[in-house]
Parts: sequence; structure tokens; C-alpha cells
Amino acid sequence: MDKQIILVGFMGCGKSTVGSQLAQRLNCSFIDTDVYIEDKFKMSISDIFKEKGESFFRKQETACLEDVLEISESKVISVGGGTPVIAENRILLKKLGIVVYLKASPKVIYERIKNNQSRPLLQVENPKERIQLLMSEREAYYEMVADWILPIDSLKVNEVVERIFQKVKEKKRFENISD
Ligand code: S3P
Repeated sequence: MDKQIILVGFMGCGKSTVGSQLAQRLNCSFIDTDVYIEDKFKMSISDIFKEKGESFFRKQETACLEDVLEISESKVISVGGGTPVIAENRILLKKLGIVVYLKASPKVIYERIKNNQSRPLLQVENPKERIQLLMSEREAYYEMVADWILPIDSLKVNEVVERIFQKVKEKKRFENISD
């Protein structure tokens, strides 16, 4: 039985915020793979990219999913925006449980992240253009891995949480749903 909800989507779509609130609503634990990696190396994602390189970080994302697969309790997991791009990761994500794609437009993403410096891939001269490019490269992978696509441009965080909560409840796939 699937007991995990995995949130995928582009940087800034709200995976971490939604994930942590959804886990509270479902009365289960929450894992953010970026935080997991930061804790493991006692370094920020930006420093990992700077000091160890992006390919090292990508390997850690896969290792993290393998670790998380070993934890059998029900949980909500949010993964980095680049995780579903790698085929091996998509297999692991499907094994983990129900994958929800929080789909946001490049415009909304840009508005949300424009003043945030924590994402190394967007520290470029023209972040708007970079978002559009990365999004066009990644969209197909998000859709490929998703069990459910939720367009979120016009939704507030609590509405996103509620939509996923209701969907999970319909499916009765979580054991500890709290009302
Ligand atoms: C990345 C997304 C980030 C983080 C890293 C790389 C990406 O996570 O994993 O900066 O490649 O899209 P968020 O999607 O949580 O911002």
C-alpha cells in the first residue's frame, strides 16, 4: 500500500511549505530532501554546489531517495526541483508512493523567487529566462512521474494543502488521517 505523498515541481512552487503543512494535516512526518542533504553534510545547498559541484549534489539526491525508501512509516516528502529529471530518481519516486506535481507557470515562479538568493541555479543575470528554459526542459519529466497534476497558480498554500488532503482521503491510502 502506498503511504507516502511525494511533492515534485519547479523551484519556488511551494513544495516545502505545502509539504510541511500537509504532513501536519495528515498527522505524519515530513522529509524535505534538500534539508536532509544539508543536514547530512552540514552545509547549505548553495555551498554544496559551490564547493562540491552540481553532479555531487545530484548523486546525493539519489542516495537520499534510497535512504527514504527504507523508512516505512507514512510521510510526506518534498524533493528538489531537479530530482525528477534523472531517470533513476523517477523510478525511486514511483516506488516511494503517490507523486503530486505542483504545477506553476514561469511567471508565478519568478514572482516568488526573485528576491531569494538560496537557489544556485537561478543566480544568473536573467533569472526569468533561466526559469523559462529550465521549465521547458523539465516539464515533461514532472508530468511523466506524476500520479496527479495540480495547477497551483491561483491557489493559496492552504488551498493546495486542502486539495491534496481531500484527494488522499478519497483514496484512503494513508492510515493516520486526522480529521
Ligand atoms: C534545484 C532545486 C532546489 C535545490 C537545488 C537545485 C533544481 O530545490 O534542490 O537548488 O535543480 O531545481 P527547490 O526546488 O526546493 O528549490
